[in-house]
Amino acid sequence: MNRKIILLGYMGVGKTTIGKRLAEKIFFPFMDLDTFIEQKEGKKISQIFKDKGEIYFRKKEREYLTELLKSSSPMVLSLGGGTPCYGDAMQLVNEATQNVFFLQLSFQELTQRLLPQKDKRPLISHLQDDDLEDFIRKHLFDRNPFYMQAHNIINVSKKTIDEIVNIIEQKIVV
Ligand code: S3P
Repeated sequence: MNRKIILLGYMGVGKTTIGKRLAEKIFFPFMDLDTFIEQKEGKKISQIFKDKGEIYFRKKEREYLTELLKSSSPMVLSLGGGTPCYGDAMQLVNEATQNVFFLQLSFQELTQRLLPQKDKRPLISHLQDDDLEDFIRKHLFDRNPFYMQAHNIINVSKKTIDEIVNIIEQKIVV
């Protein structure tokens, strides 16, 4: 128990960047669930969405999440934005470790960050720029009840990566 440190939160909040830096600092292996899925499936997430659709992706996401949670290896694990919001995934995550961190940012700030990356992201690539903020606001409203079940909530607004990593590090339960 507690040998895993799990980061979750909306797309664009910095889960991968922060997770990598944290892992380096505490000498833990780093794993990104999206990357793990891409390696296992042999294609990019956007291609999985195109070829097989979101339902297939969510099934695989749940399968690979379980695989990683079951492994005895310690790790910093960054989830996909939607991972905790389907089925019993949030419960599985919370049962695996006490070190679950929700990285939080307002919908306005997320919109600013996601606008330039919109085309690479299958859930928002179809939207007009003007509709993005409204989409994220509603989407966050739906997802917050899941994210808020994390043991720790870290507001990352206006903080550097190193500041965020230090805050997480201080809250880790061993
Ligand atoms: C998704 C977020 C993405 C990826 C997929 C779906 C979501 O991960 O898993 O495109 O449902 O929010 P990131 O949050 O790492 O971009």
